[in-house]
Amino acid sequence: PRVAVLISGRGSNMMSLIEAAAAPDFPAEIAVVISNRPDAHGLARAQACNIPTRIVDHKAHADRAAFDAALDAVLEEEAADLVCLAGFLRLLTGPFVEKWTGRMLNIHPALLPSFKGLHTHERALAEGVRIHGCTVHFVTPEMDVGPILIQAAVPVLEADTPGTLGARVLAQEHVIYPAALRLVAEGRARLENGRVVLDEFI
Ligand code: GRF
Repeated sequence: PRVAVLISGRGSNMMSLIEAAAAPDFPAEIAVVISNRPDAHGLARAQACNIPTRIVDHKAHADRAAFDAALDAVLEEEAADLVCLAGFLRLLTGPFVEKWTGRMLNIHPALLPSFKGLHTHERALAEGVRIHGCTVHFVTPEMDVGPILIQAAVPVLEADTPGTLGARVLAQEHVIYPAALRLVAEGRARLENGRVVLDEFI
């Protein structure tokens, strides 16, 4: 399958997908990287790997529906089969998400359903949790609640700051996102009736 990776910023998860997909046995191709911000640092990193990039600037569109229509048009032009959100900081509208349901993944820097939304590492430290982590899930219309594909846990250490904890989590994001994409691309994980079906337990 052809994969579109959607970014808004530095693109470290995007790079983990590009690097994984460069392996000859990887079952998907990173066909295009799309950013809603023309200045996203990840664009140059993708170009350096010879991955085509496109910009769909949200500021050039009147509302979310118009932006999502433009994004959908680019995905169709690029013949994308799967969409990976990787630090993509725009909410997507219901019709767009429904169209791509079962074919769109997101990475979230917390163990869902805990700590949906932003500033997850600060909030995990404030709550005093001892275990934190990250989640790859299928995207459904409500934010950060989609059916879960893979999670990874990390310990929270006494001396942690949001920065040190976030770095520990990010290292795991870079492991589980390519693993989740592999499962979906191979058809070994799919969305059926709103639940993830795994061919084998991993
Ligand atoms: C990551 O922490 C990801 O989980 C979250 O946004 C951040 C993006 O980082 N959704 P990067 O652009 O992939 O480096």
